[in-house]
Amino acid sequence: MADLFDQIDLGAIALPNRIVMAPLTRARSNRDGVPNALMAEYYAQRADAGLIISEATGITREGLGWPNAPGLWAKCQVQGWQQVTQAVQGALTETLQDKVEEMVMEKVAEAVQKKAEEVQQQNDHGSAEKKDVL
Ligand SMILES: Cc1cc2nc3c(=O)[nH]c(=O)nc-3n(C[C@H](O)[C@H](O)[C@H](O)COP(=O)(O)O)c2cc1C
Repeated sequence: MADLFDQIDLGAIALPNRIVMAPLTRARSNRDGVPNALMAEYYAQRADAGLIISEATGITREGLGWPNAPGLWAKCQVQGWQQVTQAVQGALTETLQDKVEEMVMEKVAEAVQKKAEEVQQQNDHGSAEKKDVL
């Protein structure tokens, strides 16, 4: 049976796991609705989720539901969101690098163990032969 950490296809999107972050109002943008470093950090901390649904984002100033909510109607807001998506991608890359390093170290440890066993066997075989000679 599939568990929470199994991959799943959600329509056209392939999710690495089934953890989906709900939209959560944080009001951490500024008065002009420009996403900032604080928001980038918040989303990057949650980069391991299979899917992140962002907080509600205004498409016009009139469309904003509450103060300090982010928007997406001005170029500076788009750039602010790019800072957020880049931070999430960066965090994912770090996680991936850690995983690759872990896998490589496991393989190295396996290879060393195998070699040590081979050497041990050869030594055992060698001492048995010596006994035969004596
Ligand atoms: C735009 C938007 C903003 C939301 N902000 C919050 C929030 O700040 N806090 C919260 O608890 N839920 C918030 N919600 C609701 C959660 O995303 C989630 O849908 C809700 O907790 C549903 O959980 P439930 O189905 O288990 O009741 C928001 C929903 C939307 C659509």
